[in-house]
Amino acid sequence: MCGIVGVSNDSNAYKIIIEGLENLEYRGYDSAGFFLAPNKIYKTTSRVASLKSKNKDIVSNCGMGHTRWATTGKVSIKNAHPHQSYHKKFVLVHNGIISNYLEYKYKLIKEGYVFKSDTDSEVIVNYLEYLYSQNSDMDYCLKKLIEDLKGEMALIISMKGDEGLYFVKKGSPLVVGKKDSSFYLASDVLAISNYSDSFYFPNDGEYGYVSKSNSYVINKNEQNSITFNQEQFENNTTTSTGFSCFLLKEIYDQVNLIDAISKTYTSGNKLSLYYQDIKKSLKSSKHINLIGCGSSFNAASYIKSLDHSSHISTYVGSEYVKINKDETYILISQSGETYDLIQLAKKIKKKKAKMIVLTNTPHSTLARMSDITLNMCAGYEKSVAATKSFLASITILTLLTKDISNVTNYLNKVKRSIKYTLKHEDKFNDLAKKISKLTSLYYIGKDIDYAICQEGGLKLKEISYLHVEAMLSGELKHGPIATVNKKFGALGISTKSSSDEKIKTALAEVKCRKAPVFFLSLSKDISEIRFLKGPKYLTGVGIIIGLQILSYKVANILKRDIDKPRNLAKSVTVI
Ligand code: F6R
Repeated sequence: MCGIVGVSNDSNAYKIIIEGLENLEYRGYDSAGFFLAPNKIYKTTSRVASLKSKNKDIVSNCGMGHTRWATTGKVSIKNAHPHQSYHKKFVLVHNGIISNYLEYKYKLIKEGYVFKSDTDSEVIVNYLEYLYSQNSDMDYCLKKLIEDLKGEMALIISMKGDEGLYFVKKGSPLVVGKKDSSFYLASDVLAISNYSDSFYFPNDGEYGYVSKSNSYVINKNEQNSITFNQEQFENNTTTSTGFSCFLLKEIYDQVNLIDAISKTYTSGNKLSLYYQDIKKSLKSSKHINLIGCGSSFNAASYIKSLDHSSHISTYVGSEYVKINKDETYILISQSGETYDLIQLAKKIKKKKAKMIVLTNTPHSTLARMSDITLNMCAGYEKSVAATKSFLASITILTLLTKDISNVTNYLNKVKRSIKYTLKHEDKFNDLAKKISKLTSLYYIGKDIDYAICQEGGLKLKEISYLHVEAMLSGELKHGPIATVNKKFGALGISTKSSSDEKIKTALAEVKCRKAPVFFLSLSKDISEIRFLKGPKYLTGVGIIIGLQILSYKVANILKRDIDKPRNLAKSVTVI
């Protein structure tokens, strides 16, 4: 994944790079580092904040920074970016993965190059230096890099003695910002939007250069001046004030989220005309394919479980998806940068099939590739675990695929259920305490509740590090029950009274094997905690929010890094 940021011709380069890295840390936080011209490189395996505290008052008007999610080479200082070439001619930061880097590494070793790290990125910088030693035309060298190195790369490059920065875009995201004669580069526009007033999003295969005296982009051998467009982007200066972490704040934000959806999608008690038209086109579409990864896939599963007709199929974004020209493909992605979905989007575009992207990042790569972009309206979601964006996805997709006569009433009922669960947050304390003592847990459900178990279980797993697995109640006895014991329990979920008995029976079968069991249901006489029933299609919304709260509380008891869980990143931009 990784986040990169660069600054050319701004005397505040250091401050802007650190601020940019803080905004990019959601893309990975295994290590961080920066380069400031002419020769300062600093790296850490701690968080970006430690770069800030250790390096005050560095004056430079050109540099770059990197925040890493390790792919090639373990987490260590030597593998942290920026990487410098062997003869110190170039420094670069890289976001992406190069698959044939070993082939070039061996070639370069034969040419006398010595490598300090295990990364593919150091191969890029050394290969660039090697190419430059053969032909000192940078445009030729960058073109050759793109041609020879297989995989993904967004690069920001500094050459010794040169006042500017070079950039390369192949696969991984990159934006170039400008204000007056200063230039800013980053993986995500939010890292530079406070400093730029116009932007250029390079296309795949493009490379170029920015400095005080010259700037250009090269596409298919043709050099042009860069066309910057004036655009405004959402400010991300959100804080978690009043809450112990962003996750908890974002769980509470979900009441406002429903208001934001209402404001964007409705007019009076109905969907606004624009969305009515989209709804009509979905209804008449030959087939709808809902595709996502992780929580976004769970949102797709939820919608599919509401409608077992053959009109909707769901796919995990990384799996095989057959593209048919006359079908509709809805890609769900809060970041809009998920690698597997971008690869799929390219295929959908090639087939000229209809593509709708439901995203929380309207300026993202996927949004820019889609025919129609649906905004999740969730506002900036800073915690790595998805909360608001999951609720936004299922709410918006019910509005667009279900017959709801009074949309305002529908959304008000959703809000009431959320508020009720939030008001009784303390009721989860006891359950969280008991669960925090376990090593493993089945989330047991049926039908739509299985989708809720998948999402609730994923949330608990990723922020508490407990082993959690969603389980169909009927499947438990066909093998999985062999694993339960006093540290491996089960939590039953039921949002339909018709499922209560079946879940109860499954839990009883676990309990008589001395494993702890818990039950959350909309039927108040059997549930550990009471919930307010939501409207048809989002009946279990109170329990969905409850499972988020439960995950937060367990993770809090276990003293986890809730907003930045280990090994994760918010934007999954690699294979
Ligand atoms: C879990 C979570 C992830 C993402 C997944 C897809 O809390 O956030 O499972 O849902 O990585 O990301 P997007 O939605 O950005 O495509």
